[in-house]
Amino acid sequence: MKLSDNKATLSFSNGSPSVELPVYQGSIGPDVVDIRKLYAQTGMFTYDPGFMSTAATQSGITYIDGDKGELLYRGYPIEQLATNCDFLETCHLLLYGNLPNTAQKADFTKRVTMHTMVNEQMQFFLRGFRRDAHPMAIMTGLVGALSAFYHDSTDITNAEHRDISAIRLIAKMPTLVAMAYKYSVGQPFVYPKNDLSYAGNFLRMMFANPCEEYKVNPVIERAMDRIFTLHADHEQNASTSTVRLCGSSGTNPFAAIAAGVACLWGPSHGGANEAALNMLEDIQKMGGVAKVGEFIDKVKDKNSGVKLMGFGHRVYKNYDPRAKLMQETCKEVLNELGLHNDPLFKLAMQLEKIALEDDYFVQRKLYPNVDFYSGIVQRAIGIPVSMFTAIFALARTVGWIAQLNEMIGDPEYKIGRPRQLFTGSVKRDVQPLAKR
Ligand code: SDX
Repeated sequence: MKLSDNKATLSFSNGSPSVELPVYQGSIGPDVVDIRKLYAQTGMFTYDPGFMSTAATQSGITYIDGDKGELLYRGYPIEQLATNCDFLETCHLLLYGNLPNTAQKADFTKRVTMHTMVNEQMQFFLRGFRRDAHPMAIMTGLVGALSAFYHDSTDITNAEHRDISAIRLIAKMPTLVAMAYKYSVGQPFVYPKNDLSYAGNFLRMMFANPCEEYKVNPVIERAMDRIFTLHADHEQNASTSTVRLCGSSGTNPFAAIAAGVACLWGPSHGGANEAALNMLEDIQKMGGVAKVGEFIDKVKDKNSGVKLMGFGHRVYKNYDPRAKLMQETCKEVLNELGLHNDPLFKLAMQLEKIALEDDYFVQRKLYPNVDFYSGIVQRAIGIPVSMFTAIFALARTVGWIAQLNEMIGDPEYKIGRPRQLFTGSVKRDVQPLAKR
């Protein structure tokens, strides 16, 4: 970042001395006012719950232009990456800053492939869960438990430890997610196969069984790979900020990523794809397209507490570019599987059309986000709704670890410790019980 000629002056109407604050510029996007010395100079904090106007870090990984609906991973538009690259190339880009050449891609793919198995002891963690446990409860536990198996790479200040942990996490997440699914359906776990692609290996671990050979469908394999790419990173979203804050204490990478899994689970964040599909199924049960108007009215009625899940975004005030690509992937998969008349897809398209013409949504700049179509395509592939967020976590792991490694590698980083505006009781004395 570079110091701008522009400066910010903070003045107070009560005559307190004004303060001059430096302004920094990035390579693109909004400048920042550096308030790091504000408390020392004024005895005051800034106040920004929800971080609506706060840059918590500098980063060179992902840039979002919410007004244009633009998403860049290390400068490359998501549309180009989703069309011309695969997920492992995108992982290499997010982790190391560049798309791999042929030799680098082969080496990176081999490194990931050689780490896809998990320790045989991991399967016994699953046995402690009910078979109907939510997959995100299982994933939060399993990812945290990984730190119990890799004592050789938990020193986050060691660059080699950070790199091997990144490879292990990227490699093992598909295996763990597939194990969570197999456990829920009472089928045997399927071991990874080294001669399959990352996405093909995941599909086989999810859907193969010992009774017959599983053949990877290349259209589904490409769609799964693209779903991973579309979810790989997204600037300082809630779960990434959680991973950064958790990792800033110096804890091991597996524990920090487990914190990200837990945060992603929420329906306002990664849980929205599960909520969006459940919403579509509810409308379908109510009467489908004929009931869309009634549902939209309920959403617009504040007292209903009903939201149009898969719509709206803190940063995008235009169409989420991932939603467009997800819609295309949806069409490809539905056509491949002969489901082009899928009623939920038709319902989603109608819901989107009506919402985008309705003033309530237009005024609030509410557009479909990545979660609006992702559920329909995953359901068509045969992935149960309860697994959607676990797959989001699988894909986002590379973004989490890239952001964590960037923070730890930043000489300026400190443990994160926000302050507060205290509005509770001032000091008072404890009264003896008899007098309370
Ligand atoms: C993800 O941060 C990221 O980058 C996240 C993510 C990533 O890749 O990491 O992109 C992934 O989490 C996508 C978002 C998935 N969540 C959902 O689809 C859940 C539904 N969306 C909303 O909960 C909401 O839009 C948020 C949480 C996504 C954003 O909320 P904000 O920025 O805090 O905005 P807000 O809730 O203050 O909403 C502004 C207005 C409000 O109305 P008013 O009070 O101004 O009258 O818009 C309304 C909200 O009521 N609104 C919605 C709505 N989203 C916002 N009304 C109906 N349906 C919605 N979905």
